[in-house]
Amino acid sequence: MIADKKLISASSSETVDTGVAFGKLLKPGDVVCLYGNLGAGKTQFTKGIAQAMGINPEEVQSPTFAIIHEYASDVPLYHLDCYRLESAEEAMNIGIEEYLFGQGVCVIEWPEVIESLLPDHVRSVTIEHEEKEKRRITIHQKA
Ligand SMILES: Nc1ncnc2c1ncn2[C@@H]1O[C@H](COP(=O)(O)OP(=O)(O)OP(=O)(O)O)[C@@H](O)[C@H]1O
Ligand SMILES: [Mg+2]
Repeated sequence: MIADKKLISASSSETVDTGVAFGKLLKPGDVVCLYGNLGAGKTQFTKGIAQAMGINPEEVQSPTFAIIHEYASDVPLYHLDCYRLESAEEAMNIGIEEYLFGQGVCVIEWPEVIESLLPDHVRSVTIEHEEKEKRRITIHQKA
């Protein structure tokens, strides 16, 4: 069994850089679940994934209210934030499956509410607040 990869980020930019390295490994159709509390750094990490995909990271803003932001590139990035969704049914009603099973890379903040809808194989990352600007990032290995 391969162990999860754990690393410490000392700043917002280090979390973006970690997202870049992680993003380079992604392929069309991949789904990435980002776990972590409010302000942990999930959107910062997503900026890194975007950068790795040739998207300007400054354009990546939290889709908390829109739920979904789509960024065009050779492989499109679908950035989802399910914080404001109350149920998997609500997610279905707004057409979330189109993104989960689409041709782009799908990155999901607050995925808990839609776990029953996810494909069998997803990549998962957990970001935990340690102290001040310090975060522990865990890249979970594929099951
Ligand atoms: N090491 C770090 N990694 C990531 N962000 C950090 C770090 N240190 C400080 N920060 C700050 O913490 C905040 C993280 O915000 P971000 O929007 O990425 O969190 P989030 O997990 O997406 O939160 P939410 O659940 O509200 O969407 C930013 O203001 C960022 O500058
Ligand atoms: Mg966020």
